[in-house]
Amino acid sequence: MSDKLFIFDTTLRDGEQVPGCQLNTVEKIQVAKQLEALGADVIEAGFPISSPGDYNSVIEISKVVTWPTVCALTRAVQKDIDVAAEALQYAKHKRIHTGIGTSDSHIKYKFNSNREEIIERAVAAVKYARRFVDDVEFYAEDAGRTDNEYLARVVEAVIKAGATVVNIPDTTGYCLPSEYGEKIKYLMEYVNGVHNAIISTHCHNDLGMATANTMAGVLNGARQVEVTINGIGERAGNTSLEEIAMIIKCHKDIEIETNINTQKIYPTSRMVSSLMNMPVQPNKAIVGRNAFAHSSGIHQDGVLKNIQTYEIIDPHDVGIDDNSIVLTARSGRAALKSRLHALGVTLEQERLDQVYEEFLKLADKKKDISEDDILVLAGAERTQNHRIKLEYLQVTSGVGVRSVASIGLNIAGEKFEAAASGNGPVDAAISALKKIIDRHMTLKEFTIQAISKGSDDMGKVHMQVEYDNRIYYGFGANTDIIAASVEAYIDCINKFK
Ligand code: KIV
Ligand code: ZN
Repeated sequence: MSDKLFIFDTTLRDGEQVPGCQLNTVEKIQVAKQLEALGADVIEAGFPISSPGDYNSVIEISKVVTWPTVCALTRAVQKDIDVAAEALQYAKHKRIHTGIGTSDSHIKYKFNSNREEIIERAVAAVKYARRFVDDVEFYAEDAGRTDNEYLARVVEAVIKAGATVVNIPDTTGYCLPSEYGEKIKYLMEYVNGVHNAIISTHCHNDLGMATANTMAGVLNGARQVEVTINGIGERAGNTSLEEIAMIIKCHKDIEIETNINTQKIYPTSRMVSSLMNMPVQPNKAIVGRNAFAHSSGIHQDGVLKNIQTYEIIDPHDVGIDDNSIVLTARSGRAALKSRLHALGVTLEQERLDQVYEEFLKLADKKKDISEDDILVLAGAERTQNHRIKLEYLQVTSGVGVRSVASIGLNIAGEKFEAAASGNGPVDAAISALKKIIDRHMTLKEFTIQAISKGSDDMGKVHMQVEYDNRIYYGFGANTDIIAASVEAYIDCINKFK
């Protein structure tokens, strides 16, 4: 019989720590419901003591999620655990995830402490958390760089104290797969009582080894993996859920099963990417735009003769549907609703009507409407309550002339207009904008996402603007790339504190 591998999704906690990718509670609920449909066993919903937003999200996600366990992160600190327990009050199945750094550098520089004291603090935190919940996970932060003998003592002590799951994070993404696999093997061999808990992997991708390390952990006895959709997460990100799920599905010889409904992988990936405004790199395994695109002549020839020559995964298995109906100006509400539903987005009738109106306007401008387009339209309500809105923009530009822009803004109901010239159309438009909003702000990064489907496609712009020593992230999407740029700039300004 196959062993079960528990999938612990931390898109809403570790994944959400990516600068500029923060979600509001409504968006987090949407993602949590999708993760439930996908089959994640545990959903890490946030770090409740870190902010009121995280606290509320854990409360609201606990209310809507039914069968998966809802997990909340804490440090090994009583106050954190009190707040996490309170936030989890409505969860049907709840887990507190507490822990402390165990590597020598964490012990010395972060805690100014010593190994024995850290074990005492770890044990005390687990015992304290067990007062509130039966399911307590302990993380040994920076376990990747922790000496194995000492790590085994920590793991043994926390299992004895009542930890049901012990997480071995490679926090800095430093380990080689062989090293990380050896670490898990060592724990499985030398920790007394190790079978009274589940050993979990939690790998970061700083050296591009997160998935390989996670698999090395699984092959050596770990039975929970901590992952995120699209591999998002701080710095280079975390292990990606879709990669692990498909490795396990393709390699039947491993004799391990997950609960993941792989056909929901692609819609979930699209939803997370769209809500977080975080593009997926085109060559990303499993969910990238090119993941199933064979372009070389030799490959195309082989694929046409027999798909198995070059394709190890059937795209339908991850939910990519090439036969899905193309949406055009003649598509009705039902087609739009069904496509949104396939992408994991369910809208109330009133909101569907609004999105349909926008859809028709967009369909007037471009021939075929892509999945990305409708996800952008469905997410547009995020900007509806913005104080500053773009009313109009007119730009003239060309070769050998200076660009000139005039802009109209609506700021809390009042109309403002300005015009300016600039070194190119975006510069002219932003200079005009700055005449109305006269603050010391600097454009730090400006990314135009590649347009894939023709010159009438929606241009998506990501921006970073510095103001008052803080960086703000903005997003804009429009068939007019200059308008998308100005929208992204305005999105940043609307977030100024
Ligand atoms: O990477 C890490 O060590 C973590 C822990 C807080 C679990 O995210
Ligand atoms: Zn992490």
